[in-house]
Amino acid sequence: MRANPLVYRRVAAAQSQDPVLPLNRCSFLESCQAEYALRGGIVEHGKPEDAYGKIQYRGLIAWPERLRREKPLLERVLGTAPIKSLLDLGCGTGEHSRFLRSLGFEVSGVDASEAQLRAAREADPDEEGDVHPRYVQGDLGSIGSLVPAGYGGAICLGNTLPHLREAGTLQRFLDELASRLVSGAPLLLQLLNYDLILDGGERTFPLSLRPGEAPGEEIIFMRLMTPRPDGTLIFTPATLRYRPGLESPLELVSAQNVQLRGWRRSELEGALQAAGFEVFETFGSMTGDPWNPETSDLVLWATKA
Ligand SMILES: C[S@@+](CC[C@H](N)C(=O)[O-])C[C@H]1O[C@@H](n2cnc3c(N)ncnc32)[C@H](O)[C@@H]1O
Repeated sequence: MRANPLVYRRVAAAQSQDPVLPLNRCSFLESCQAEYALRGGIVEHGKPEDAYGKIQYRGLIAWPERLRREKPLLERVLGTAPIKSLLDLGCGTGEHSRFLRSLGFEVSGVDASEAQLRAAREADPDEEGDVHPRYVQGDLGSIGSLVPAGYGGAICLGNTLPHLREAGTLQRFLDELASRLVSGAPLLLQLLNYDLILDGGERTFPLSLRPGEAPGEEIIFMRLMTPRPDGTLIFTPATLRYRPGLESPLELVSAQNVQLRGWRRSELEGALQAAGFEVFETFGSMTGDPWNPETSDLVLWATKA
């Protein structure tokens, strides 16, 4: 039986006495953390109920640290863009859009959530002089009708892609995206490594610890992944309050289900190729480490042919 890398990392972190486990610093888990804070039943994005309206997405992520970690790879990939205009697909509260704008790109952020875009626009209101709109609300499955053609590159980060749960929707998204990009445009996709989850039977993730509001209190995020026969996964994040001095030290703050499709590397590569992209390089994280079957993330750098 092969070693479980997630368990190994937990043990290594405990041994290093690091109060915040190393994997907690990965961009994917940070962005998932926001999803964990959503309450209710199965969250279906793009439906009239705006699940992201219930949380402060921006506040749940350590953005300066995340962007600092991701900057070298973003610069490397997006530096190949033939034109300095980008799409930020599933842009959330717009942190990547604003960051890339600060690097000299014109960026259109696209997201289904009205609440996420409201927060993005508030932080980034000045569209004067821009050729493309800064923020566009809509479903990625219809990207072709949301933005004009002629962008020089695109990013889709933070496990946004698994929200597109049908193979047909994924393919339509990539086909229409290809029609919005110029030849040679880079596309950077980041999601969890679902090959590891589905094949390795890995259903849990390292616990994430953050300081709570009261002294000595900590907030624990835990995550459970339950594969379903139809190929989707129920992702069940939960938040617990930990107060070691109490007789009952753990209290459940919130728990919910998010329905996702765990796209495998081979499925994504096939869909990208069918849409006219060439996969250029594959990484295991947004810091640019190489992918292998046991890395936490799958990060694909593709180029529009
Ligand atoms: C986990 S957040 C990731 C945000 C950001 N890209 C990041 O890396 O932190 C996923 C985002 O995708 C958006 N989203 C989910 N499904 C979508 C869809 N079908 N069309 C457009 N946006 C979608 C959500 O509203 C949310 O803002």
